[in-house]
Amino acid sequence: MKCRKCGEKAVINMRQHKLALCREHYLAWLPEQVERFIEKYKMFTHTEKVLMAVSGGKDSLGLWHILKTLGYNAEGLYIGLGIDGGAGYSDESRALSEAFAKEHGLILHVVDIEQKYGATIPELAVISNRGQGKPCSVCGLNKRYLFNRVALEGNFDVIVTGHNLDDEVAVLMQNTFNWAGGYLARQAPVLPGGAGLARKAKPLCRIYEREMTAYCLLQGIEYIYAECPHAEGSTTIYYKEVLNQMETDRPGTKLQYYVSFLEAKKAGLFASVEDKAVLHPCDRCGQPTSAPGECAWCRMWDRVRLVKTTVPVSPESVSLL
Ligand code: AMP
Ligand code: FES
Ligand code: ZN
Ligand code: ZN
Repeated sequence: MKCRKCGEKAVINMRQHKLALCREHYLAWLPEQVERFIEKYKMFTHTEKVLMAVSGGKDSLGLWHILKTLGYNAEGLYIGLGIDGGAGYSDESRALSEAFAKEHGLILHVVDIEQKYGATIPELAVISNRGQGKPCSVCGLNKRYLFNRVALEGNFDVIVTGHNLDDEVAVLMQNTFNWAGGYLARQAPVLPGGAGLARKAKPLCRIYEREMTAYCLLQGIEYIYAECPHAEGSTTIYYKEVLNQMETDRPGTKLQYYVSFLEAKKAGLFASVEDKAVLHPCDRCGQPTSAPGECAWCRMWDRVRLVKTTVPVSPESVSLL
């Protein structure tokens, strides 16, 4: 297989794009694609301050590398979740994120949940009784909350995550099977900010997971291979497997599904279920919440404090940066 651009030996064949490229042309092509989508979906500009949420995985570290290559002004944010899984999952992902930032001269902010608030995510899951003791729900709540607070406290214009096409399509499939109109209306490459919410963008929403793996391997970026131990057996992983089978049989299926969804949305298919919820500032921390009063995050930490005295009396007033 030869590179379409120069005729040298190709290192990757992307059947979904009918395109094979050599190392040099692939490493130039992928950032160009990402920049095209950043501009197409009006995610952010070169003069804006970007907060890149990094997990130590290939998508977020690869994307941070791409943003730097493209000349964007992106600082990183790593949230320490205290997940061990027998192999020190959080410790390793933090070490890899810190090593990456150091090697590339980038600023990384670290918020360690146990250090700041006195309990790890797995502990929170058991004590708070959210998500039937499984950590994923409290983990999501804390990540969303902390991403937003750090973005606002640090005057960032936008918070960027490494969700790739495979992630987006798995969620899309799940939401389509449930006809979850509200979620479908909200799933987008960029969510505008306002009312105390920072803008959120997913520059890899049209990039295949395999394309990110290739980018990191070819760039020599060291990332954590292991998935979160709590993700095992999740519905998302099941949908990813089904979608991979479909993609093998018909290359381009995932991209086609996602792009057609965005077109249908643009044409107004989900307009009637668009989220018009009014947000209120939480009485305690000031972060936006759907019901007046205290937000779910403040209430959750209050419950945990009843059991764990290491939790500060006012977790909302602990400074993050
Ligand atoms: P996941 O939900 O683990 O698939 O991660 C999706 C995206 O969320 C990643 O690409 C990161 O941008 C972000 N993310 C996940 N975990 C963390 C973390 N511990 N700290 C900061 N960002 C994270
Ligand atoms: Fe949050 Fe797995 S429970 S990353
Ligand atoms: Zn080439
Ligand atoms: Zn609150």
